[in-house]
Amino acid sequence: EIEGSLRPRTFEEYIGQEKAKEKLSIFIQAAKSRKESLDHVLLYGPPGLGKTTLASIISNEMGSSLRITSGPAIERPGDLAALLTNLNTGDVLFIDEIHRLSRSVEEILYPAMEDFALDIMIGKGPSARSIRLDLPKFTLVGATTRAGLLTSPLRDRFGVICRLEMYDTQELKTIIKRSAKILGIGIDEQGANELALRSRGTPRIANRLLKRVRDYAQVKASGFIDCNVANDGLNMLEVDKMGLDSIDRKMLMTIINKFAGGPVGIDTLAYSIGEESHTIEDVYEPYLLQIGYINRTPRGRVVSKLAYDYFKIPYNN
Ligand code: ADE
Repeated sequence: EIEGSLRPRTFEEYIGQEKAKEKLSIFIQAAKSRKESLDHVLLYGPPGLGKTTLASIISNEMGSSLRITSGPAIERPGDLAALLTNLNTGDVLFIDEIHRLSRSVEEILYPAMEDFALDIMIGKGPSARSIRLDLPKFTLVGATTRAGLLTSPLRDRFGVICRLEMYDTQELKTIIKRSAKILGIGIDEQGANELALRSRGTPRIANRLLKRVRDYAQVKASGFIDCNVANDGLNMLEVDKMGLDSIDRKMLMTIINKFAGGPVGIDTLAYSIGEESHTIEDVYEPYLLQIGYINRTPRGRVVSKLAYDYFKIPYNN
């Protein structure tokens, strides 16, 4: 599977996120030398920055196995109990979108994380009692788009909290060249640079654009990705010079045209463009905030002068 082969397997191969990498490799080395399991780790940040990849590197570097699941996939407390009782000592349990666990499932997780114990209720009514099962000492790696989405009792049970940052152009360029090499795609510095500039700070997007521009290069050119081929391919994909797609542009233009540049509340904006407010907050907004095209104010989102300039619209606010 291609996605898997692009995924770095060690910290050494993993490009960027220097702070998270440094912290995690120190804590892993320390835990290993004490022959303990690693403390629970919370990874947060916008989608596509490598949370699942980091979880798999953590398990790899700890020399343990990885189990992958997600908040929405664990429907009932029994589903989580089944997962937990099947772990071995030192295993990494990765729960993506951990903020989407139901309250009743989350309550199973507290003693599991804190005491490596599972409390099971037997029976109902006055004769009900609970028994406590011991669990192996595992490491929970939780991922979420924003740490603030977690309840505080859950957040407090993570010993390590890492925020993932958007990648700069240089890092994305290195990732694109690495992926091109693995996939056998010909690309030069300028081609890689063009793709990097238009990947919204996100490796997942960079790798997707690389594959689609390769398709374009094969059919419309010699198969090699230089600056011109990258540019033409990205234009065909409707990815503009800043990497904005049609939804980003719609969002900015709606704030400009319908709300006089803002401020506009997230729910009003979501309704106007027909997207979910979570999707705006988790997927679209982080990059627009990062490049300074929108700002958050207590009264809602405001489009900045930078964005007006980009669209060549006079700024009178
Ligand atoms: N592919 C996707 N993300 C990557 C990263 N951070 N480093 C190397 N290759 C990647």
